[in-house]
Amino acid sequence: MSPPLSKFAQSVGGSTVVGMRRQADALEAQGMTIIDFGIGEPDFEAPPPVREAAIKAIQDGHGNYIDPRGLLELREAIAAFEGAQHGLDVDPDQIVVTPGSYGGLSLITRALLDPDDEVLVIEPGWGPYKAMVKLTGAQAVGVPMGTKQGRFVIDGDKLEAAVTAKTRAIIVNTPWNPTGRVLLPEELAAVAKVAERHDLWIVADEVYSELVYANASHVSIATLGEDVRARTVIATSLSKSFAMTGWRLGYCIAPAELSVLLAKINQYTSRCATSIVQHAAIAAFRESASYVADMHAQYSKRRDAIAAGLNTIPGVECPLPEGTFYAFPQIPEAWGDSKDVAGYLLQEAGVLLTPGASYGPASRHHLRLSFATSTELIEEGMARMQKALPPSGLIANND
Ligand SMILES: Cc1ncc(COP(=O)(O)O)c(C=O)c1O
Repeated sequence: MSPPLSKFAQSVGGSTVVGMRRQADALEAQGMTIIDFGIGEPDFEAPPPVREAAIKAIQDGHGNYIDPRGLLELREAIAAFEGAQHGLDVDPDQIVVTPGSYGGLSLITRALLDPDDEVLVIEPGWGPYKAMVKLTGAQAVGVPMGTKQGRFVIDGDKLEAAVTAKTRAIIVNTPWNPTGRVLLPEELAAVAKVAERHDLWIVADEVYSELVYANASHVSIATLGEDVRARTVIATSLSKSFAMTGWRLGYCIAPAELSVLLAKINQYTSRCATSIVQHAAIAAFRESASYVADMHAQYSKRRDAIAAGLNTIPGVECPLPEGTFYAFPQIPEAWGDSKDVAGYLLQEAGVLLTPGASYGPASRHHLRLSFATSTELIEEGMARMQKALPPSGLIANND
């Protein structure tokens, strides 16, 4: 028998998205065609200037270790981008380049937390937050959002009620996976108020900041004022905005003292994000705007198509996503738990999506569909769902 493993590491569960994809692989191997609304991954390639810059970086021999903070030229490009896009006045020294925002969030949780600390994770929320918190030995405390006109909204009172003497941070994600919401300034202010009152960190995940549709606009919580800025650390990446998921490039923006600590942890974790990709990323910020605009226009059409398709299914209510590439419709309680509904749709209709239950109990009767896929596949998926729903043979379990 092998020696024991870390208790913190073993306390972490597996990913529903990955688990469902494996089930879909097995069905595909049996000859079924699957329409994949599961994973949140753009179906586009990285913009041509980025790919060309990566090849050039290889040819120019840029494959060495670099500063754990990241290339200065890249950090300058990021600072200019954040200033122009989000009104953030960032010094390149406040930026730490990381392997994706997974990498950034993992540094942040380790920089902020000690065992037994608590972190407020707003639900429905992206599952890995809880896992990353648990890996430090701290506790992730789920706090439900409120609801207003069929949409999930921040409820400052619920956040306030969840704070204890052990609370160290609140994680806030806008645009919001899985809800498709783009938080309003007053919702962000409600988060900031709780953080200020109890001297907490705000961890702002802004990975979908460029995926915001008409009538909504992304506001970074760090722009709400000097005090909020001093307690906010942003984690973001090029994965969604520039269709660069597998390139693994992200960055954190933090107050000076924290950014030094993040760079130090980065050094002892991955040493630095891949040098070749850092060179390529400069081209993302400086030369790719037209490609990003094109992708955005396509996402916008897909968003309309998927919301319209879902709303034709009796009992299903899908608010128009304000940002991200996720639709998050509510399904009737009588259909039972969303895990069973998702399993049924996969087996019976060959439609892969993610049950809302995996984002917390508040969304037990929701489904998440990624529309980072072609309009043709969205139409085919909608036709299959319209035929298969309401689910036959599922026993309602509303306990
Ligand atoms: C809310 C959210 N944050 C962070 C990530 C991590 O993305 P990456 O590490 O590719 O930047 C994802 C990916 O799905 C996400 O949905």
